[in-house]
Amino acid sequence: MTENNSQIRIFDTTMRDGEQSPGASMTLNEKLELAELLESMGVDIIEAGFPAASIGDFECVSTIASRASKIVVCGLARAVPRDIERAGEAVAKAERPRIHTFISTSPVHMKHKLKMGENAVLEAVGRSVSQARGYVDDVEWSAEDATRTDFDFLCRCADLAIASGATTINIPDTVGYSHPEEYRDLFERLIKNVSNSDKAIWSTHCHNDLGLAVANSIAGVAGGARQVECTINGLGERAGNAALEEIVMAMRVRKDAFAYQTGIDATKLSRASKRVSQITGFPVQYNKAIVGKNAFAHESGIHQDGMLKNNQTYEIMNPEDVGVSATSLVLGKLSGRNAFRDKLENLGYELDADALNDAFKRFKDLADKKKDVFDEDIIALVDDQLSGA
Ligand code: KIV
Ligand code: ZN
Repeated sequence: MTENNSQIRIFDTTMRDGEQSPGASMTLNEKLELAELLESMGVDIIEAGFPAASIGDFECVSTIASRASKIVVCGLARAVPRDIERAGEAVAKAERPRIHTFISTSPVHMKHKLKMGENAVLEAVGRSVSQARGYVDDVEWSAEDATRTDFDFLCRCADLAIASGATTINIPDTVGYSHPEEYRDLFERLIKNVSNSDKAIWSTHCHNDLGLAVANSIAGVAGGARQVECTINGLGERAGNAALEEIVMAMRVRKDAFAYQTGIDATKLSRASKRVSQITGFPVQYNKAIVGKNAFAHESGIHQDGMLKNNQTYEIMNPEDVGVSATSLVLGKLSGRNAFRDKLENLGYELDADALNDAFKRFKDLADKKKDVFDEDIIALVDDQLSGA
Protein backbone atom coordinates (compact mmCIF):
# COMPACT_ATOMS: atom_id res chain seq x y z
CA MET A 1 0.00 0.00 0.00
CA THR A 2 1.38 3.36 -0.94
CA GLU A 3 1.73 6.34 1.35
CA ASN A 4 1.41 8.72 -1.59
CA ASN A 5 -1.39 11.16 -0.77
CA SER A 6 -2.74 11.25 -4.30
CA GLN A 7 -3.05 7.47 -4.38
CA ILE A 8 -6.40 6.07 -3.31
CA ARG A 9 -6.41 2.88 -1.29
CA ILE A 10 -8.88 0.34 -2.60
CA PHE A 11 -10.58 -1.64 0.16
CA ASP A 12 -12.43 -4.54 -1.40
CA THR A 13 -15.37 -5.90 0.58
CA THR A 14 -16.78 -8.30 -2.03
CA MET A 15 -16.23 -11.17 0.40
CA ARG A 16 -17.91 -9.43 3.34
CA ASP A 17 -20.47 -6.78 2.34
CA GLY A 18 -20.79 -8.38 -1.12
CA GLU A 19 -21.45 -11.74 0.43
CA GLN A 20 -24.20 -10.17 2.56
CA SER A 21 -26.22 -9.91 -0.64
CA PRO A 22 -28.96 -12.55 -0.32
CA GLY A 23 -27.92 -15.66 -2.27
CA ALA A 24 -24.30 -14.59 -2.85
CA SER A 25 -22.48 -16.84 -0.41
CA MET A 26 -19.05 -18.19 -1.35
CA THR A 27 -17.13 -21.29 -0.32
CA LEU A 28 -13.69 -21.23 1.26
CA ASN A 29 -12.02 -22.28 -1.99
CA GLU A 30 -13.89 -19.64 -3.97
CA LYS A 31 -12.85 -16.98 -1.47
CA LEU A 32 -9.23 -18.14 -1.60
CA GLU A 33 -9.23 -17.91 -5.38
CA LEU A 34 -10.85 -14.48 -5.28
CA ALA A 35 -8.40 -13.23 -2.65
CA GLU A 36 -5.50 -14.22 -4.92
CA LEU A 37 -7.08 -12.47 -7.87
CA LEU A 38 -7.74 -9.30 -5.86
CA GLU A 39 -4.17 -9.28 -4.56
CA SER A 40 -2.79 -9.71 -8.08
CA MET A 41 -4.98 -6.81 -9.26
CA GLY A 42 -3.38 -4.45 -6.76
CA VAL A 43 -6.22 -4.16 -4.23
CA ASP A 44 -4.75 -2.64 -1.06
CA ILE A 45 -7.04 -4.08 1.62
CA ILE A 46 -9.32 -7.08 1.46
CA GLU A 47 -12.19 -7.52 3.90
CA ALA A 48 -12.28 -11.30 3.97
CA GLY A 49 -15.32 -11.77 6.20
CA PHE A 50 -16.93 -11.37 9.60
CA PRO A 51 -15.11 -13.91 11.80
CA ALA A 52 -17.64 -13.93 14.65
CA ALA A 53 -20.53 -14.62 12.28
CA SER A 54 -19.77 -18.33 11.80
CA ILE A 55 -17.03 -20.92 12.03
CA GLY A 56 -16.90 -20.92 8.23
CA ASP A 57 -16.36 -17.17 8.07
CA PHE A 58 -13.66 -17.39 10.73
CA GLU A 59 -11.91 -20.10 8.73
CA CYS A 60 -12.08 -18.04 5.52
CA VAL A 61 -10.55 -14.98 7.15
CA SER A 62 -7.83 -16.93 8.94
CA THR A 63 -6.87 -18.99 5.86
CA ILE A 64 -6.72 -15.91 3.64
CA ALA A 65 -4.71 -14.15 6.37
CA SER A 66 -2.17 -16.96 6.52
CA ARG A 67 -1.68 -16.99 2.72
CA ALA A 68 -1.65 -13.30 1.83
CA SER A 69 1.71 -11.63 1.43
CA LYS A 70 1.51 -7.94 0.65
CA ILE A 71 -2.22 -7.20 0.90
CA VAL A 72 -3.80 -6.04 4.19
CA VAL A 73 -6.29 -8.66 5.42
CA CYS A 74 -9.18 -7.35 7.43
CA GLY A 75 -11.89 -8.99 9.57
CA LEU A 76 -15.10 -7.22 10.60
CA ALA A 77 -16.29 -7.01 14.22
CA ARG A 78 -19.20 -5.34 15.97
CA ALA A 79 -18.32 -3.28 19.03
CA VAL A 80 -18.65 -6.32 21.27
CA PRO A 81 -15.70 -7.99 23.00
CA ARG A 82 -16.30 -11.48 21.58
CA ASP A 83 -16.45 -10.20 17.98
CA ILE A 84 -13.20 -8.31 18.39
CA GLU A 85 -11.52 -11.29 20.00
CA ARG A 86 -12.58 -13.54 17.07
CA ALA A 87 -11.47 -10.96 14.50
CA GLY A 88 -8.11 -10.61 16.28
CA GLU A 89 -7.60 -14.39 16.24
CA ALA A 90 -8.69 -14.68 12.61
CA VAL A 91 -6.29 -12.07 11.22
CA ALA A 92 -3.41 -13.02 13.55
CA LYS A 93 -1.41 -14.86 10.89
CA ALA A 94 -1.56 -12.08 8.32
CA GLU A 95 1.61 -10.19 7.45
CA ARG A 96 -0.54 -7.05 7.54
CA PRO A 97 -3.62 -7.63 9.74
CA ARG A 98 -6.47 -5.17 10.25
CA ILE A 99 -9.54 -5.25 12.50
CA HIS A 100 -12.54 -3.27 11.30
CA THR A 101 -14.92 -2.50 14.14
CA PHE A 102 -18.17 -0.58 13.80
CA ILE A 103 -21.18 0.70 15.68
CA SER A 104 -24.25 2.64 14.56
CA THR A 105 -24.28 6.33 15.34
CA SER A 106 -27.55 7.59 13.80
CA PRO A 107 -30.57 8.34 16.02
CA VAL A 108 -32.78 5.79 14.24
CA HIS A 109 -30.22 2.99 14.64
CA MET A 110 -29.30 3.88 18.22
CA LYS A 111 -32.94 4.05 19.32
CA HIS A 112 -34.43 1.07 17.49
CA LYS A 113 -31.57 -1.27 16.76
CA LEU A 114 -29.03 -0.75 19.54
CA LYS A 115 -31.39 0.65 22.17
CA MET A 116 -28.45 2.71 23.36
CA GLY A 117 -28.04 6.41 24.06
CA GLU A 118 -25.17 8.62 22.94
CA ASN A 119 -23.07 8.07 26.05
CA ALA A 120 -23.30 4.30 25.79
CA VAL A 121 -22.33 4.43 22.10
CA LEU A 122 -19.37 6.68 22.90
CA GLU A 123 -18.26 4.31 25.62
CA ALA A 124 -18.48 1.38 23.15
CA VAL A 125 -16.42 3.27 20.54
CA GLY A 126 -13.54 3.86 22.97
CA ARG A 127 -13.69 0.35 24.40
CA SER A 128 -13.92 -1.48 21.06
CA VAL A 129 -11.13 0.43 19.37
CA SER A 130 -8.83 0.05 22.39
CA GLN A 131 -9.56 -3.67 22.54
CA ALA A 132 -8.85 -4.05 18.81
CA ARG A 133 -5.55 -2.19 19.24
CA GLY A 134 -4.61 -4.91 21.73
CA TYR A 135 -4.49 -7.32 18.77
CA VAL A 136 -3.28 -5.21 15.84
CA ASP A 137 -1.80 -1.79 15.07
CA ASP A 138 -4.08 -1.27 12.09
CA VAL A 139 -7.63 -0.62 13.32
CA GLU A 140 -10.46 0.75 11.23
CA TRP A 141 -13.49 2.25 12.92
CA SER A 142 -16.82 2.77 11.14
CA ALA A 143 -19.82 4.85 12.14
CA GLU A 144 -22.64 2.78 10.71
CA ASP A 145 -25.32 4.99 9.13
CA ALA A 146 -22.93 7.95 9.41
CA THR A 147 -24.75 10.00 6.78
CA ARG A 148 -27.92 10.10 8.92
CA THR A 149 -25.97 10.92 12.09
CA ASP A 150 -25.95 14.24 13.95
CA PHE A 151 -22.76 15.97 12.82
CA ASP A 152 -21.51 17.01 16.27
CA PHE A 153 -22.06 13.52 17.63
CA LEU A 154 -20.27 12.01 14.63
CA CYS A 155 -17.31 14.31 15.32
CA ARG A 156 -17.21 13.25 18.97
CA CYS A 157 -17.27 9.56 18.01
CA ALA A 158 -14.54 9.95 15.36
CA ASP A 159 -12.50 12.03 17.77
CA LEU A 160 -12.66 9.31 20.39
CA ALA A 161 -11.96 6.54 17.87
CA ILE A 162 -8.76 8.30 16.78
CA ALA A 163 -7.75 9.03 20.37
CA SER A 164 -8.30 5.33 21.18
CA GLY A 165 -6.00 4.24 18.35
CA ALA A 166 -8.07 3.91 15.14
CA THR A 167 -5.90 4.47 12.07
CA THR A 168 -8.74 4.55 9.52
CA ILE A 169 -12.09 6.27 10.00
CA ASN A 170 -14.82 5.03 7.71
CA ILE A 171 -17.96 7.11 7.05
CA PRO A 172 -20.52 4.71 5.57
CA ASP A 173 -23.53 5.84 3.62
CA THR A 174 -25.11 2.64 4.89
CA VAL A 175 -28.52 3.10 3.29
CA GLY A 176 -27.38 4.95 0.15
CA TYR A 177 -29.10 8.14 1.28
CA SER A 178 -26.50 10.78 0.56
CA HIS A 179 -25.98 12.97 -2.49
CA PRO A 180 -22.50 13.69 -3.86
CA GLU A 181 -22.15 17.34 -2.77
CA GLU A 182 -23.45 16.46 0.67
CA TYR A 183 -21.04 13.52 1.07
CA ARG A 184 -18.08 15.58 -0.10
CA ASP A 185 -19.03 18.34 2.30
CA LEU A 186 -19.33 15.84 5.16
CA PHE A 187 -15.70 14.73 4.68
CA GLU A 188 -14.48 18.30 4.42
CA ARG A 189 -16.27 19.27 7.64
CA LEU A 190 -15.19 16.13 9.52
CA ILE A 191 -11.54 16.55 8.55
CA LYS A 192 -11.72 20.17 9.64
CA ASN A 193 -13.53 19.60 12.94
CA VAL A 194 -12.27 16.28 14.31
CA SER A 195 -9.14 16.60 16.47
CA ASN A 196 -6.09 14.87 15.04
CA SER A 197 -8.01 14.08 11.85
CA ASP A 198 -4.67 13.93 10.02
CA LYS A 199 -3.66 10.93 12.15
CA ALA A 200 -6.20 8.73 10.35
CA ILE A 201 -7.01 7.80 6.76
CA TRP A 202 -10.60 8.78 5.96
CA SER A 203 -12.66 6.26 4.05
CA THR A 204 -15.81 6.13 1.94
CA HIS A 205 -18.26 3.22 2.03
CA CYS A 206 -21.28 3.83 -0.19
CA HIS A 207 -24.38 1.82 -0.87
CA ASN A 208 -26.32 2.16 -4.09
CA ASP A 209 -29.96 2.53 -3.04
CA LEU A 210 -30.31 5.69 -5.15
CA GLY A 211 -27.79 4.61 -7.79
CA LEU A 212 -25.28 7.14 -6.40
CA ALA A 213 -22.71 4.87 -4.75
CA VAL A 214 -19.91 5.48 -7.25
CA ALA A 215 -20.63 9.21 -7.60
CA ASN A 216 -20.70 9.55 -3.81
CA SER A 217 -17.42 7.64 -3.39
CA ILE A 218 -15.70 9.93 -5.86
CA ALA A 219 -17.18 12.97 -4.16
CA GLY A 220 -15.89 11.62 -0.83
CA VAL A 221 -12.38 11.46 -2.30
CA ALA A 222 -12.73 15.05 -3.49
CA GLY A 223 -13.67 15.89 0.11
CA GLY A 224 -10.51 14.30 1.54
CA ALA A 225 -11.11 10.54 1.77
CA ARG A 226 -8.11 8.44 0.74
CA GLN A 227 -9.62 4.96 1.04
CA VAL A 228 -12.60 3.76 -0.98
CA GLU A 229 -14.57 0.69 0.04
CA CYS A 230 -16.17 -1.14 -2.86
CA THR A 231 -17.01 -4.50 -4.39
CA ILE A 232 -16.55 -6.22 -7.74
CA ASN A 233 -19.69 -5.73 -9.88
CA GLY A 234 -21.10 -3.55 -7.08
CA LEU A 235 -22.22 -6.71 -5.29
CA GLY A 236 -23.78 -5.99 -1.89
CA GLU A 237 -26.83 -5.63 0.31
CA ARG A 238 -30.02 -4.44 -1.43
CA ALA A 239 -28.96 -2.37 -4.46
CA GLY A 240 -25.32 -3.12 -3.72
CA ASN A 241 -22.13 -1.26 -2.90
CA ALA A 242 -20.00 1.09 -5.00
CA ALA A 243 -18.57 -0.91 -7.93
CA LEU A 244 -14.79 -1.22 -7.82
CA GLU A 245 -14.38 -1.32 -11.61
CA GLU A 246 -16.39 1.88 -12.05
CA ILE A 247 -14.44 3.77 -9.42
CA VAL A 248 -11.10 2.71 -10.87
CA MET A 249 -12.04 3.65 -14.43
CA ALA A 250 -13.85 6.88 -13.51
CA MET A 251 -10.61 8.08 -11.95
CA ARG A 252 -8.41 6.75 -14.75
CA VAL A 253 -10.41 7.90 -17.77
CA ARG A 254 -10.83 11.39 -16.31
CA LYS A 255 -7.35 11.85 -14.93
CA ASP A 256 -7.42 15.26 -16.59
CA ALA A 257 -10.13 16.25 -14.10
CA PHE A 258 -9.24 14.13 -11.09
CA ALA A 259 -5.98 14.29 -9.20
CA TYR A 260 -6.28 10.86 -7.58
CA GLN A 261 -5.57 7.38 -8.87
CA THR A 262 -5.74 3.83 -7.59
CA GLY A 263 -3.00 1.23 -7.90
CA ILE A 264 -5.34 -1.26 -9.61
CA ASP A 265 -4.26 -3.17 -12.72
CA ALA A 266 -7.38 -2.41 -14.76
CA THR A 267 -6.66 -5.11 -17.34
CA LYS A 268 -7.85 -7.62 -14.73
CA LEU A 269 -11.25 -5.96 -14.20
CA SER A 270 -13.14 -7.98 -16.78
CA ARG A 271 -11.77 -11.26 -15.47
CA ALA A 272 -12.60 -10.35 -11.85
CA SER A 273 -16.12 -9.38 -12.84
CA LYS A 274 -16.72 -12.66 -14.70
CA ARG A 275 -15.30 -14.74 -11.88
CA VAL A 276 -17.44 -13.03 -9.21
CA SER A 277 -20.48 -13.49 -11.39
CA GLN A 278 -19.73 -17.20 -11.91
CA ILE A 279 -19.02 -17.80 -8.23
CA THR A 280 -22.13 -16.05 -6.93
CA GLY A 281 -24.45 -16.91 -9.82
CA PHE A 282 -25.35 -13.20 -10.07
CA PRO A 283 -25.45 -12.16 -13.74
CA VAL A 284 -23.83 -8.88 -14.74
CA GLN A 285 -26.41 -6.65 -16.41
CA TYR A 286 -25.69 -6.25 -20.15
CA ASN A 287 -25.42 -2.48 -19.98
CA LYS A 288 -23.30 -2.40 -16.78
CA ALA A 289 -20.53 0.21 -17.04
CA ILE A 290 -17.04 -1.17 -17.75
CA VAL A 291 -17.79 -4.89 -17.48
CA GLY A 292 -21.25 -5.39 -19.02
CA LYS A 293 -21.52 -7.47 -22.20
CA ASN A 294 -22.58 -4.36 -24.14
CA ALA A 295 -20.05 -1.94 -22.63
CA PHE A 296 -17.98 -2.09 -25.83
CA ALA A 297 -20.65 -3.21 -28.32
CA HIS A 298 -22.26 -1.04 -30.98
CA GLU A 299 -25.29 -1.93 -33.06
CA SER A 300 -26.73 1.20 -34.61
CA GLY A 301 -25.59 2.16 -38.11
CA ILE A 302 -24.58 5.67 -37.11
CA HIS A 303 -22.42 4.47 -34.23
CA GLN A 304 -20.89 1.61 -36.20
CA ASP A 305 -20.02 3.98 -39.02
CA GLY A 306 -18.37 6.34 -36.51
CA MET A 307 -16.46 3.49 -34.88
CA LEU A 308 -15.18 2.26 -38.23
CA LYS A 309 -13.83 5.73 -38.95
CA ASN A 310 -12.32 6.34 -35.48
CA ASN A 311 -12.99 4.42 -32.28
CA GLN A 312 -12.87 7.59 -30.18
CA THR A 313 -16.18 8.63 -31.71
CA TYR A 314 -18.14 6.35 -29.40
CA GLU A 315 -15.64 4.87 -26.92
CA ILE A 316 -13.97 6.77 -24.09
CA MET A 317 -11.64 3.89 -23.16
CA ASN A 318 -10.16 0.97 -25.05
CA PRO A 319 -11.70 -2.42 -24.32
CA GLU A 320 -8.18 -3.86 -23.82
CA ASP A 321 -7.64 -1.37 -20.96
CA VAL A 322 -10.15 -3.31 -18.86
CA GLY A 323 -9.27 -6.74 -20.19
CA VAL A 324 -11.89 -7.04 -22.94
CA SER A 325 -10.33 -8.36 -26.15
CA ALA A 326 -12.04 -6.08 -28.66
CA THR A 327 -14.90 -3.77 -29.48
CA SER A 328 -17.80 -5.62 -31.10
CA LEU A 329 -19.91 -4.25 -33.89
CA VAL A 330 -23.07 -6.25 -33.47
CA LEU A 331 -25.10 -6.66 -36.62
CA GLY A 332 -28.81 -6.10 -36.24
CA LYS A 333 -31.68 -4.28 -37.90
CA LEU A 334 -30.16 -0.88 -37.01
CA SER A 335 -26.77 -1.63 -38.56
CA GLY A 336 -25.58 0.23 -41.64
CA ARG A 337 -23.96 -0.73 -44.92
CA ASN A 338 -20.41 0.16 -43.79
CA ALA A 339 -20.51 -2.15 -40.80
CA PHE A 340 -22.01 -4.88 -42.97
CA ARG A 341 -19.23 -4.47 -45.57
CA ASP A 342 -16.62 -4.53 -42.79
CA LYS A 343 -18.12 -7.73 -41.40
CA LEU A 344 -18.09 -9.37 -44.85
CA GLU A 345 -14.45 -8.44 -45.31
CA ASN A 346 -13.59 -9.91 -41.92
CA LEU A 347 -15.40 -13.09 -42.94
CA GLY A 348 -13.33 -13.22 -46.14
CA TYR A 349 -15.90 -12.03 -48.73
CA GLU A 350 -15.20 -9.42 -51.36
CA LEU A 351 -18.41 -8.49 -53.17
CA ASP A 352 -18.82 -6.03 -56.01
CA ALA A 353 -21.22 -3.11 -55.52
CA ASP A 354 -24.29 -4.91 -56.92
CA ALA A 355 -23.67 -8.09 -54.94
CA LEU A 356 -23.09 -6.04 -51.80
CA ASN A 357 -26.40 -4.18 -52.30
CA ASP A 358 -28.20 -7.43 -52.77
CA ALA A 359 -26.57 -9.04 -49.72
CA PHE A 360 -27.27 -5.97 -47.61
CA LYS A 361 -30.96 -6.07 -48.56
CA ARG A 362 -31.18 -9.76 -47.65
CA PHE A 363 -29.40 -9.06 -44.38
CA LYS A 364 -31.88 -6.27 -43.50
CA ASP A 365 -34.83 -8.59 -44.24
CA LEU A 366 -33.32 -11.22 -41.98
CA ALA A 367 -32.48 -8.73 -39.20
CA ASP A 368 -36.10 -7.55 -39.16
CA LYS A 369 -37.18 -11.10 -38.35
CA LYS A 370 -34.31 -12.26 -36.16
CA LYS A 371 -33.12 -10.55 -32.99
CA ASP A 372 -29.50 -11.68 -33.18
CA VAL A 373 -27.76 -12.05 -36.51
CA PHE A 374 -24.69 -14.23 -36.02
CA ASP A 375 -21.68 -14.68 -38.30
CA GLU A 376 -23.09 -18.07 -39.35
CA ASP A 377 -26.32 -16.37 -40.54
CA ILE A 378 -24.35 -13.96 -42.70
CA ILE A 379 -22.15 -16.69 -44.13
CA ALA A 380 -25.27 -18.71 -45.06
CA LEU A 381 -26.96 -15.65 -46.53
CA VAL A 382 -23.98 -14.71 -48.75
CA ASP A 383 -23.22 -18.29 -49.75
CA ASP A 384 -26.85 -18.76 -50.83
CA GLN A 385 -26.67 -15.57 -52.83
CA LEU A 386 -23.39 -16.49 -54.50
CA SER A 387 -24.67 -19.97 -55.40
CA GLY A 388 -27.81 -18.37 -56.87
CA ALA A 389 -30.19 -19.85 -54.30
O1 KIV B 1 -22.81 -0.28 5.25
C1 KIV B 1 -22.26 -0.27 6.36
O2 KIV B 1 -22.46 0.60 7.19
C2 KIV B 1 -21.33 -1.37 6.65
C3 KIV B 1 -20.53 -1.25 7.90
C4 KIV B 1 -20.42 -2.53 8.61
C5 KIV B 1 -19.18 -0.68 7.57
O3 KIV B 1 -21.19 -2.27 5.85
ZN1 ZN C 1 -21.99 -1.70 3.87
